[in-house]
Amino acid sequence: MSNNTLILGLQWGDEGKGKIVDALAENSEVVCRFQGGHNAGHTLKVDGEQKVLHLVPSGILHPSVHCVLGNGIVLSLPALQQEITELEESGINFTDRFYVSGDCALILPTHIAIDKVRDQSEGIGTTGRGIGPAYEDKVARRAIRFSDLQDLDKLQSRLEKLVDYHNKILVHLYNAEPIPFQDVLEELQNYQSLFQKFHSGTQDLLRGWVKDNKKIIFEGAQGSMLDIDHGTYPYVTSSSTTAGGLSTGLGVGPKYVDTILGITKAYTTRVGEGPFATELFDANADQLAKVGHEFGATTGRPRRCGWLDLKALETIVFINSVTTLCITKLDVLDGFSEIQVCVDYGKEQNPIYKTLPGWKQETSGIRDFNDLPQAAQDYIMFIENVLDCPVGIVSVGPSRDQTIYRA
Ligand code: GDP
Ligand code: IMO
Ligand code: MG
Repeated sequence: MSNNTLILGLQWGDEGKGKIVDALAENSEVVCRFQGGHNAGHTLKVDGEQKVLHLVPSGILHPSVHCVLGNGIVLSLPALQQEITELEESGINFTDRFYVSGDCALILPTHIAIDKVRDQSEGIGTTGRGIGPAYEDKVARRAIRFSDLQDLDKLQSRLEKLVDYHNKILVHLYNAEPIPFQDVLEELQNYQSLFQKFHSGTQDLLRGWVKDNKKIIFEGAQGSMLDIDHGTYPYVTSSSTTAGGLSTGLGVGPKYVDTILGITKAYTTRVGEGPFATELFDANADQLAKVGHEFGATTGRPRRCGWLDLKALETIVFINSVTTLCITKLDVLDGFSEIQVCVDYGKEQNPIYKTLPGWKQETSGIRDFNDLPQAAQDYIMFIENVLDCPVGIVSVGPSRDQTIYRA
């Protein structure tokens, strides 16, 4: 395996990125996040115990792995503190191995209020975590950044202006309650210790590690079809979830990435509103949702389910320069006698399906590709042929060890 691996979700999120990052982190020294915020929900399962991470990179369960939040992250201080506290209580150590870029834009309580009230009329179905409004302020060059916690007195007048602007939006556009400036300031004061503990110049750190040939995983959040530019706009998140997001969100150029691992479920899910060509509304949808436990890890919302869309994935594989594919949740298809795969779209963008035989056999205990039922192997090989990209990893269950590495 090469040195540095970029791991990306190729669909609408929840492809199993967390599980795969955790599994691969065993042989890595650094895991970095570069976009998104605590809208993400990454589920890891190790020795029967489940952990859901929102901000902390999915390498944290390995005690020697260094974990980084890059400048492209939008950072909620209370969410980060809560996650660190919970993990520390379960025995995970953060000292001298967790670093947060001073350039991260902060999510303020007013961002969350605006996100929630605005989504009631806009109907994107956001996670209500303040992600969109925080990125808006970043792009508008008025964000409060993590390094601003260094000197709250100096920050005060800029913060006052910003909170005043947010409150005008809340009160005049949405008829909502304003948030007192003092509440916002107090939140920053309360979490200043996070800055003292974890603030770091992550770009220099990364440059040193790259020079020293450390094995680094770059962990994407969300998925390509939620990308602000390439996704199903406007039903997207507000960050660059595709490969380009790495360079802007961490300050590491593309030549330092050796493998681009694109993760897709063996079918498709989506949480929130927006187009979904292969969505099902029949008993097959119920079966996918039930067997796959398709409920969002962040909001608990039921995920919409449908067949795999290879037509969409062809474009996404190109946009990301995916070098290797990982297919997750293959085991969820174990009970189907037939499986459909979208290979093209008709005139009205309706999916054109190819029907493939199911295998009707349990796969969750299998660890060698050649031991998979022939129809399951054929399904995987059909995907790699259409996408013209090799499948290197197949996941057959939520646990770290339920992973098949293909030689
Ligand atoms: P992420 O956001 O991409 O990290 O994915 P989530 O954690 O939000 O959602 C994936 C869900 O599927 C989680 O509940 C995982 O535990 C689970 N999961 C991951 N891989 C597999 C798999 O191969 N089979 C099954 N049955 N579940 C899986
Ligand atoms: P992980 O990393 C699935 C979706 C929301 C909504 C849209 C915009 O776990 O794969 P936002 O709050 O980001 O402004 O919401 O994006 N969304 C996700 N869907 N997995 C995620 O993350 C998501 N993060 C955001 O449901 O449709
Ligand atoms: Mg998720």
